[in-house]
Amino acid sequence: MDRIRIRKAARLQGEIPISGAKNAALKLMAACLLTSEPLVLSNVPRLADVRAMADLLKSFGVTVERTPGTSLGEGDTYRFQAGTIASSFASYDMVRKMRASFQVLAPLVARHGEAKVSLPGGCAIGARPVDMHLKALEALGAEVSLADGYVLAKAPKGGLVGGRIEFSKVSVGATETALMSSVLAKGKTEIGNAAREPEIEDLCLCLIAMGAKISGLGSGRLIVEGVKELHGATYAVMPDRIESGTYAIALALTGGELELIGARRDNNTALYDLLDRAGTDIQETKRGIRLYRNGAPPAAVEVTTAPFPGFPTDLQAQLMALMTIAEGTSIIRETIFENRFMHVPELGRLGADIRVHGDVATVRGVAKLKGAPVMATDLRASVSLVLAGLVAEGETIVNRVYHLDRGFDRLEEKLRAVGADIVREKE
Ligand code: UD1
Repeated sequence: MDRIRIRKAARLQGEIPISGAKNAALKLMAACLLTSEPLVLSNVPRLADVRAMADLLKSFGVTVERTPGTSLGEGDTYRFQAGTIASSFASYDMVRKMRASFQVLAPLVARHGEAKVSLPGGCAIGARPVDMHLKALEALGAEVSLADGYVLAKAPKGGLVGGRIEFSKVSVGATETALMSSVLAKGKTEIGNAAREPEIEDLCLCLIAMGAKISGLGSGRLIVEGVKELHGATYAVMPDRIESGTYAIALALTGGELELIGARRDNNTALYDLLDRAGTDIQETKRGIRLYRNGAPPAAVEVTTAPFPGFPTDLQAQLMALMTIAEGTSIIRETIFENRFMHVPELGRLGADIRVHGDVATVRGVAKLKGAPVMATDLRASVSLVLAGLVAEGETIVNRVYHLDRGFDRLEEKLRAVGADIVREKE
């Protein structure tokens, strides 16, 4: 398995192009199943999860053509065509590797009438049930059963029928399931307590480009008027706000000056406001966001993860890496996923002082981290170790980095280009 070797960095300086958003791209890819015409997606990030989703789509009979981008800043372009759906079976082997592949369930049922999809695996960050996805499908008339680790869902004879879906808690994935189930359903669907993450809006905009009728974008109540069929479209994936947030935190750690090309402050106000308070200068530019920091330790913060527009759980581990060297004691509360503090013992190996009680981590800032071998556990946890490695004295070796390749497009290349001392060792 590959590992990454990092030596303490000088200040980061320069610009980093932000790739297309993983969490948007994967769902837009699944949306190709809703039409027999081609869906062309540009700005697709180069990630293991994207390749896994493309393979899964191929197994249903979708033709997939990829045109690689020619620079770090240009994403790949994919053309997907689900002319006929030859199979609607997603095996355990496919789905366990990546939870997002569960998102094929709704478009398969909506267009093909039925699907058998394995219950998901994905990151080891808690139980992560799919009950709300299934309730959404049932609300539109699907018959859903569970057997041997698989979900079997069937639309009624004439297809899914619009209805009312009221979620008991905010879920990104379940909102996407509700959207993809309802765009081809007969009549109107109302989705209450919908997630408001920008990736949901991206999916709505792509579906609208394909002929769907959706209103209430950006709000917690989405209204879908079902249409008979959707058509092909060309759509550019939104920039990844978790990737840009991660590099913003990297800059706050090392000091220096970075321009994040394509980043948007309004996609991540919670993070940028917090970095601002902790002492980083942030300016919106024509091309993205410019950050400047003089290298003094950041001020400690108190933060609670929450659904958008709250502080994203996908940046919690990275923020914690920053707070390990803050002046004072930070309190970080994780409310979205249980078991999402797996980076804590690894950061501890680098000299961080972190105590966890239930869903709260108390981080006492230390003057210095010291490099050591550490183990990547999940996607966001792994990148937090890379960030800590940028400021740890000496050398940090991050083992088991395949998690990083799932979600960060050419991370070492991007960091090296702005002055980091980071190399990958193949095994
Ligand atoms: C998506 C993102 C993930 C991010 C998360 C929260 C993708 C591929 N992944 O994950 O990176 O961390 O949003 O922003 O887009 N829940 C249930 N029942 C369900 C569904 C969810 O109880 O049927 C719970 C989950 O266990 C969790 C909470 O709802 O506690 C939020 O999860 P959800 O928003 O669904 O996360 P994902 O869509 O899986």
